[in-house]
Amino acid sequence: MPPSPPGRIVIRAAHLGDAGALVALIEGFWKRRLMMRRTLDEVSAAIATFVVADEGGEIAGCSSLFIYNPDLAELRSLGVRESSQGKGLGKALVDATLAEAEKLQVRRVFALTLETAFFERCGFQRIEKNLLPEKIWRDCIGCESFPSCNETAYIKTTGRTPSA
Ligand SMILES: CC(C)(COP(=O)(O)OP(=O)(O)OC[C@H]1O[C@@H](n2cnc3c(N)ncnc32)[C@H](O)[C@@H]1OP(=O)(O)O)[C@@H](O)C(=O)NCCC(=O)NCCS
Repeated sequence: MPPSPPGRIVIRAAHLGDAGALVALIEGFWKRRLMMRRTLDEVSAAIATFVVADEGGEIAGCSSLFIYNPDLAELRSLGVRESSQGKGLGKALVDATLAEAEKLQVRRVFALTLETAFFERCGFQRIEKNLLPEKIWRDCIGCESFPSCNETAYIKTTGRTPSA
């Protein structure tokens, strides 16, 4: 897939050529305790779940959709590099991830975040974390911040009914 021309920003599906840049971007957020760390193998294995903001051929942001079951998926690894924030890229990445969830007929998408105002701006509703046992038992239970994590859970319904 060709990179976007200089100066142009394109939201597109990620490919394996993006994996190194994605790991580096995520690593920067992980160091600031804003995101879970991902290895090159993890990102490569999950590359089909990522969308990226391609700014003139550079990866300016990313988001990924992790499916738990036909009813529930998580929007995760959402981040926009600092120099590209405030231009609508975060919202565009969320919208692209929600569109993918809708296409796949996942009914609800949640996120755990410190960016409460941003997710409210994107139309998500606050939800108690204990209503997301799938997340708690998969990731939170092994996290050093459990059970006193300061992230808030947000959820959005895509409008699709789960597939049979
Ligand atoms: C959160 C993040 C993805 C937002 O990306 P962004 O590209 O700067 O956001 P956008 O420009 O698309 O903003 C969309 C809307 O949200 C608002 N918004 C964004 N960040 C906000 C904040 N921290 N507080 C309040 N409003 C915010 C914007 O003003 C904008 O509102 P508008 O539609 O009225 O203009 C980005 O700040 C980021 O990468 N943060 C670090 C990593 C992180 O915390 N990720 C979240 C993990 S779940």
